[in-house]
Amino acid sequence: MAAFHKGGDSQLPDPSGIYRENFIAALDGVTRHLRSLTAMGCEGFDCSAENLERINAWGSSVISFDETLEEIYTDIDDCRRCKLSESRNHIVFGVGDPKARLVFIGEGPGYDEDQKGEPFVGAAGRLLNKIIQAMNLRREDVYICNIVKCRPPGNRNPLPGEIKTCIPFLKRQIAAIHPEFICTLGSVAVQSLLNIRDPVSKLRGNLYQYHNMTVIPTFHPAYLLRNPEKKRDVWEDMKKLMELQ
Ligand code: URA
Repeated sequence: MAAFHKGGDSQLPDPSGIYRENFIAALDGVTRHLRSLTAMGCEGFDCSAENLERINAWGSSVISFDETLEEIYTDIDDCRRCKLSESRNHIVFGVGDPKARLVFIGEGPGYDEDQKGEPFVGAAGRLLNKIIQAMNLRREDVYICNIVKCRPPGNRNPLPGEIKTCIPFLKRQIAAIHPEFICTLGSVAVQSLLNIRDPVSKLRGNLYQYHNMTVIPTFHPAYLLRNPEKKRDVWEDMKKLMELQ
């Protein structure tokens, strides 16, 4: 935007050069923002307490309902927005039915996912597949994605800054799919999506709302591999989910 404040006729933006690109990018941002406001139910440029409350309730990220997953993927491009990009092999966008009624959200890609560019394809993924099958669903019937799209080195938890940078893409994916149910896997997923601090051990067993979608938090399959006695709890959560469908 600095390009528009240089002053003097000789400094006016060059319509065929970099200023034009900046202008188009800025216009695109404004358009997206206005579309998000419309999607949130705001009318016009009204800054009334009522509208501000609506905006707050939706969170700060840009959400529009008419984006496709392909458009979001294209927007991610060869992402360099955070340091995770330096060590990743593949961006792990998500996989499954773009019109799924149920979305599973994990934490972030591990080694296998980073190698393949697909979420939940390692040991935890094989267990997630079994859970999905036990629900009488196929992997292709649901959508599977993560809070962050690049592997944190050594499979550490993603840092708050990395989550903050990446989560708008997840929120746009959710808006594009608009599932009825979201099953978050592990603490990082539920905390990041709902912006809360409680661990999954405290949250599971209850239902939450993300906009008008039902969120079912449960344990992460990798945690189940280390604590098989917790599988019973996850199955209780999945049964509850199936009863809701
Ligand atoms: N763990 C996750 O949280 N996500 C994956 O994609 C794989 C393992």
